[in-house]
Amino acid sequence: MAIERVFTQPGPDEERYLTSLRPQTLDACIGQEVVREQLWIGLEAARKRGEPLDHVLLDGPPGLGKTTFAHVIAHEMGTTIRVTSGPAITRQGDLMMMLTQLETGDIIFIDEVHRLNKVIEEFLYPALEDFRVDYTTESGIGGRTVNFALKRYTLIGATTRAGMLSAALRGRFGHFFHLQYYSREELARIVRRSAELLKVEAEPAALERLASRSRGTPRIVNRLLRRVRDYADVRADGRLTPAIVDAALEILQIDGLGLDSLDRDYLHALIKHYDGGPAGIEAIAATMGHERDTLEDVVEPYLLQIGFVIRTPRGRAARPAAYEHLGLPRPKHTGDAPDQASLFE
Ligand SMILES: Nc1ncnc2c1ncn2[C@@H]1O[C@H](COP(=O)(O)OP(=O)(O)OP(=O)(O)O)[C@@H](O)[C@H]1O
Ligand SMILES: [Mg+2]
Repeated sequence: MAIERVFTQPGPDEERYLTSLRPQTLDACIGQEVVREQLWIGLEAARKRGEPLDHVLLDGPPGLGKTTFAHVIAHEMGTTIRVTSGPAITRQGDLMMMLTQLETGDIIFIDEVHRLNKVIEEFLYPALEDFRVDYTTESGIGGRTVNFALKRYTLIGATTRAGMLSAALRGRFGHFFHLQYYSREELARIVRRSAELLKVEAEPAALERLASRSRGTPRIVNRLLRRVRDYADVRADGRLTPAIVDAALEILQIDGLGLDSLDRDYLHALIKHYDGGPAGIEAIAATMGHERDTLEDVVEPYLLQIGFVIRTPRGRAARPAAYEHLGLPRPKHTGDAPDQASLFE
C-alpha cells in the first residue's frame, strides 16, 4: 500500500524545495535553543583552537532539522560536507574511499547512522577514534590488512533512533544533540520566514494556523505551506488567509491537531481492533498493512508526545485524549495497562 502522506519520504522536487528553505547559519536557525547554545560553544571552541569539531550525533524524529544542522555546522566551520547514509554504505571499500578522500576539517554526514551494517560499523570505530582504518583487501590469498592514516575530519551522524545505536558507536561521538519538537510560536516564525523567501503573501493568522497544525515539525510546516499556496493560487488570488488554510487542509485531510489519515488510521486500528491496547507494534502494523518502521519513525513519536498513546511493556495503549479527539466513546477501562495518569481521571 502506498503511503500518500504530506510528510513522509519527499521526492526530488520536494527535496529541492525544502533545501531552498534551509537556514545556513546557526543564527538563522529558529528554536532548539539548547542545541544551538551547546553547538555554538562547541563551534567557537573548535574555531579558537583551529581544530576540527569533535564527531557529532544528531538525534530526533523526522523533519526536525538534523540534515539542516549538519549543513549549518559545515557552513559555520567553513568546510566541505560529504553526504551519505547508513543503508547506502554496503561495502567497506565504499566507506574507505570516502574517508581517505577527506581533507583536514572536512565533514562526512551519515544519515540514518543506526542502519549501518555491523561490519561497516566496526570498520568505523578506529576511523572515529584514532583517525585510521584497517583495510582488508578481499583479493589474494587470505587477504592483506593495510593500515591507513586519515586526516582529522568530523563525522556527523543523524538518527531517528538513538536507542538503536550500539553503545560502542554512540560512545565515539563527542557531541550528542537531541532535537525536540518545535513550539507553535517557533513554527510560526519558521513558516513566516519561508513565506517571505517564497514571496507568498500571507496574513499572520493564516501562518499561525498552519503552525498549529504541523505537529511540531518544520518539515511539515514548510510542506503544508507549499500545498496551501497551490490551493490559494488555484482557488483564490494567491493570498493566504485563515479560511484558505482551513479549506486546503480539509482537502489534505489534516485535522485540527495536524493529524493526518495515517495518524488516525493508527489510532483507529489500536482502538477498534485492539480495544485500545495494549497491542504490539507488529500486530498494529499488520492490521494497517504498513511497515512497522514507518509507524515507529513517523507516526508514533508525535502521538506519544501529545499523550494520545503510551508505550507499556506489553505494547501500545491509547489514552483517553485519543478517544476524545476521534469522538469515540471512552472505554470503561483504558486497556489493562495501568498507568499513573488513569488513577487521577
Ligand atoms: N531550526 C530550524 N529553523 C528553520 N527551519 C528549519 C529548522 N530546522 C529545520 N528546518 C526546515 O525544516 C525542513 C526539514 O529539515 P531537515 O531536512 O533538516 O530535517 P531532518 O531532521 O533531517 O529530517 P529527516 O529525519 O526526515 O531527514 C527544512 O526545509 C528546513 O528548512
Ligand atoms: Mg534529513
